Amino acid sequence: MDIVIAESLLKQYNGFTAVREVNFTIRDRECFGFLGPNGAGKTSLVKMIYGFSPVTSGKLTVFGMDVKTNIRDIKRLLGVVPQENNLDPDLKVLQNLLVYASYFGIDARLARERAEELLEFFGLKEKAGEIVESLSGGMKRRLVIARALINKPGLLILDEPTTGLDPQARHMVWQRLRLLKEQGVTLILTTHYMEEASQLCDRLVIMNLGEILVEGTPQKLVADYIDETSGQIVQEKKEQPATLEDVFLKLTGRKLQD
Ligand SMILES: Nc1ncnc2c1ncn2[C@@H]1O[C@H](COP(=O)(O)OP(=O)(O)OP(=O)(O)O)[C@@H](O)[C@H]1O
Ligand SMILES: [Mg+2]
Repeated sequence: MDIVIAESLLKQYNGFTAVREVNFTIRDRECFGFLGPNGAGKTSLVKMIYGFSPVTSGKLTVFGMDVKTNIRDIKRLLGVVPQENNLDPDLKVLQNLLVYASYFGIDARLARERAEELLEFFGLKEKAGEIVESLSGGMKRRLVIARALINKPGLLILDEPTTGLDPQARHMVWQRLRLLKEQGVTLILTTHYMEEASQLCDRLVIMNLGEILVEGTPQKLVADYIDETSGQIVQEKKEQPATLEDVFLKLTGRKLQD
C-alpha cells in the first residue's frame, strides 16, 4: 500500500515556485528520503504532507486521504519533527510530552505511560524533570522525536533530524530511527547529508531547486552513476568508492553542502 501519493504537486509562495510539479509515492513501512541542498524545497514539500502549508496545485494524498479535505484525520495518524525544534522551553522534559499528548486527547494515565516509555527509548529518562533549556542539542532533537511519537503514528516525518548534531549524537538518532522502522513505522526524512540518506533510506529522491532529479534506492543511484561515468578518467582516479555526493555533483554541478 502507498502511504503518500503526490501527483504534479506544486508549491508557490507569492508566485515564487519552491516545489515544481513533483511526482512520487511512499510505500508502507519504508524509509523514504528527500536529499537536497539548502533551498531545494524539502521543507516546503514535507510541510504540505503534514498539513502545515497548503498545496498550490496538484494532488497529494496521505493514507488514501486528500490533504485538502481531510487534513484533520491525517494529522491524527502522523508524527512530525519540524526542522526547527519547537519545544516549550518553560516546561520540563516530561511535561513537554504530556502537554503534547493532551492535544491528541490522550488520556492522562496513558499519556504518562507512553511518555515514560519514550523517554526511556530515547535515553532521556534521567532528564525527565529537567527544563528543556538544560538539554544538549542532541537531547533536544531526541525529545522532539519522542514527542512526535506520543500518538503512536504510523508515519513519522522528520525534517533534517540530525542537522547540527555531532557524529555521536547523529548515530544515536539513526539507531533509534532504525528500531522504529523495524517496529513498522513508515519514515519520511529530509536531509542534506548523503551518508544519512544512504544509511537510513530504502528509497530516496534527490532534489534541487524544487525539482526531483532522480529516484531510486541509494545503491541503484550510485550504481547508475558508476555505469554512466565508467571509463572516464575521473572514476579511475578516485580512491574512494562513489557516493550519493558524486551523483548529486554530476546531476547539478554543485556540492550538496556548499
Ligand atoms: N514562507 C516562504 N515564503 C517565501 N519563500 C519561501 C518560504 N519558504 C521557503 N521559501 C523559499 O522556497 C525555497 C525552498 O525552501 P525550503 O525551505 O523548502 O528548502 P529546503 O530544501 O528545506 O532548504 P534547507 O535545507 O535550507 O532547509 C527557497 O528558495 C526558500 O527561500
Ligand atoms: Mg528545510
